[in-house]
Amino acid sequence: MRILSGIQPSGRLHLGNYFGMMRPAIELQEQGDAFYFIANYHALTTVSDADAMRQGTLDVALDFLACGLDPSRTTFYRQSDVPEVTELTWLLSVVTPMGLLERCHSYKDKIAKGIAASHGLFAYPVLMAADILAVQSDIVPVGRDQKQHVEVTRDIAIKFNNTYGEVFRLPEARIREDVAVVPGLDGQKMSKSYNNTIEIFGDPKEARARIMRIVTDSKGVADPKDPDACNVFALYRLFASAEEREAMAARYRAGGLGYGEVKKALHEKFEAHFGPLRARRADLAANLDFVEEVLRRGAERARAEAGATLRRARAAMGLE
Ligand code: ADP
Ligand code: TRP
Repeated sequence: MRILSGIQPSGRLHLGNYFGMMRPAIELQEQGDAFYFIANYHALTTVSDADAMRQGTLDVALDFLACGLDPSRTTFYRQSDVPEVTELTWLLSVVTPMGLLERCHSYKDKIAKGIAASHGLFAYPVLMAADILAVQSDIVPVGRDQKQHVEVTRDIAIKFNNTYGEVFRLPEARIREDVAVVPGLDGQKMSKSYNNTIEIFGDPKEARARIMRIVTDSKGVADPKDPDACNVFALYRLFASAEEREAMAARYRAGGLGYGEVKKALHEKFEAHFGPLRARRADLAANLDFVEEVLRRGAERARAEAGATLRRARAAMGLE
């Protein structure tokens, strides 16, 4: 089974990225041949500062490796080191109906947020289709907001296969329903554009302060509470075992549990989980030659795969 996913180097990674995409992707690397990459071509649609792009790319590489991406098992690369993907994007563009792209929520949401409506932003799903189809991926682990893009990828692949013959395998999005949307401090989806995030490798003091600021209702300590309506519980449950989750939920319902106490418990879980990973990340940051070598080897393998697919697509279209 082939697995592929990408993440944009467009900001510090937060708990939404971690539980929605990184951790499921890292768990899946045990189950198949995984390709994970840093989507810097995609990030160009929103990041125009070259230093920020370089720094963001290095940050994602360090974050992923620190969180358990295993480079001996998984192909890890920078998207821009695989130029075959951009050539494939053009071949896919000519079979992509405008209407398919016009329906994409992500494009409309980004315009509504004030991001410039460039051709790149509009054609973004076609580049994403090329990422996925280039390595003939079966499974694409992403957060729910990316599901439509994977469906667009399937539609493009079907259209291409019907027009030129079977070249592409049809991929499927893999969304972990239990963590499909991680809430932010204010209860909306956690997202860097809402300034409601808890960064996984930010300043630990800042993470603590942010956990303490999570919005709750105004019930007093004695009142019974609904765990399923609480943002703090929604984050706590992501770190807790099934027993811990049940025990905490029972205490919510019984009353006598204050939100301050749950926030402290959440902070302890956060530190227990990310403290050791922070140390591992610092070691990697002191050994950048290793990180660079991982990405170089990853690109080599990804280019070989993407090159083979590209040759089949070119031949099917009469380009060779
Ligand atoms: P942001 O919303 O902060 O800009 P991205 O859009 O760059 O995050 O998301 C990168 C990956 O992380 C995607 O696969 C996305 O689905 C996942 N993701 C981001 N935020 C969340 C969230 N709050 N809950 C679940 N998954 C998320
Ligand atoms: N668009 C994705 C995001 O913003 C990143 C991405 C680019 C991706 N290409 C991909 C994800 C291919 C999965 C597969 O999160």
